[in-house]
Amino acid sequence: MDEYKACNLDYFPENILIDVLSFLSVRELVKAGRVCKRWKRLVKDQRLWRLVDLTAWKGVTSRILWLLLRQYLGCGLRCLRLRGLLLSARGGTFLSESWLKALSTKCPRLSKLYLLHADLRGLPSCQLLPTSLQVLELRGCELPREFFNQTSPACSQERAEATSSVGAQQKGRDRKGKGQGSPSGIGIGRLVLNNVPSFTDQHLQSLTTWEKLSRLELRDTFRVTANGLRSCAAKDVPCGVEGLSRLKFLEIGITGRQGYQLQMASLGLGAGWLGLEELSLGGKEVGPGLLCASRLKDLKCLCLWACTLSKMQIVRSCRMLRGLRRLEFLDVTFQPPQCPPVVEGEGAGVGAGAGAGAGAGAGAGAGAGGGEEQENEEAAGGDNSNEENKTLDTNDPIPSLRRSLAVLLPSCTLVFTNCSVQINAD
Ligand SMILES: *[C@@H]1O[C@H](CO)[C@@H](O)[C@H](O)[C@H]1NC(C)=O
Ligand SMILES: *[C@@H]1O[C@H](CO)[C@@H](O)[C@H](O)[C@H]1NC(C)=O
Ligand SMILES: *[C@@H]1O[C@H](CO)[C@@H](O)[C@H](O)[C@H]1NC(C)=O
Repeated sequence: MDEYKACNLDYFPENILIDVLSFLSVRELVKAGRVCKRWKRLVKDQRLWRLVDLTAWKGVTSRILWLLLRQYLGCGLRCLRLRGLLLSARGGTFLSESWLKALSTKCPRLSKLYLLHADLRGLPSCQLLPTSLQVLELRGCELPREFFNQTSPACSQERAEATSSVGAQQKGRDRKGKGQGSPSGIGIGRLVLNNVPSFTDQHLQSLTTWEKLSRLELRDTFRVTANGLRSCAAKDVPCGVEGLSRLKFLEIGITGRQGYQLQMASLGLGAGWLGLEELSLGGKEVGPGLLCASRLKDLKCLCLWACTLSKMQIVRSCRMLRGLRRLEFLDVTFQPPQCPPVVEGEGAGVGAGAGAGAGAGAGAGAGAGGGEEQENEEAAGGDNSNEENKTLDTNDPIPSLRRSLAVLLPSCTLVFTNCSVQINAD
């Protein structure tokens, strides 16, 4: 109790006390609320409960969740971050249907939910999540098979009546807000899946019924395949556009070291994707994705991250992307502009040698066919213990690459962040 003697400081204006309280963690806030009546009241101030991060509080039980919801969470809540108990016997009961229902009612402005290590298999559908959600991020979670399905006859009728009418959708959501549980369209606009191994092509397919989904981020979702991606891509069909037709931003990245059979999902982009304006490719998906990017007619921004690339590979893929306005390299290791000598018995070395040979000799135009397979390996392989990195001016790790791209894509902004150039040890 000693540390809360400040309670006696009655002369402090409440705004200042609330500022001070805002530095406390949720756990400390709850404790502070027990100090005296004034603090108890102050701690409930909704300004303190806008962004609630419980991920650092180990062992949050559903009892604690109920306590927080009954006493503190309210109309101030915008963003909630929770850590589940994936490996615990209690995991399944962590988020209950009744708690989520109470959350929707008490916190109508909750727009962002982040779940870490949560076992969601006890929840049949994400339609149990608050309808006010615009952003849902799942990291290291377990999903039931039909979690993302929309089961709403009313909704599909509405869709049939007014295929692309945002107004109709809005009406549907408003009604849901007041009504009792008659499910309506999922309003989530941004979905992030980070290391969710149980996310499959079927889950991806379910997302095509979401009316608002404009950003989708798939990181280390190993079970998504090229076919899965291809069949969800927005494309023209006789009665309109089918697939993930509202998607503007897609991220696909595999950086995990697990021994999964990699599916190279980004090869599915080869089918083209109407309306896709921003693409972010990471790790092992960069190589296959780059091969397909020229099929993305609406692409304006491309970000490549956490990979090893050769100048050849970049120039060859990017010269097709005439509409590109922004090209970003993030945590990229560039292979040196001069081709390194071929190292015997090393896949990456052979790939680089062959690719660079074709490029340096015959110019960028000639080598389009043969090098591709090797470039895949090159992008996937990456690590080469004989080489060390030298971090150069992060704005311009390879001046010659910047020059080439400036000629090919004159109206494209180039951004290099935390990039480096591999240098041969000898
Ligand atoms: C859930 O969605 C998937 C993909 O769209 C579909 O294959 C499956 O049949 C759906 N399940 C139900 C019960 O609607
Ligand atoms: C060089 O870059 C690679 C790939 O980014 C990384 O794994 C490695 O640790 C780096 N080495 C040094 C010495 O920074
Ligand atoms: C820069 O890249 C290295 C690996 O290449 C990574 O460990 C580090 O976190 C990155 N730094 C920033 C600021 O992103």
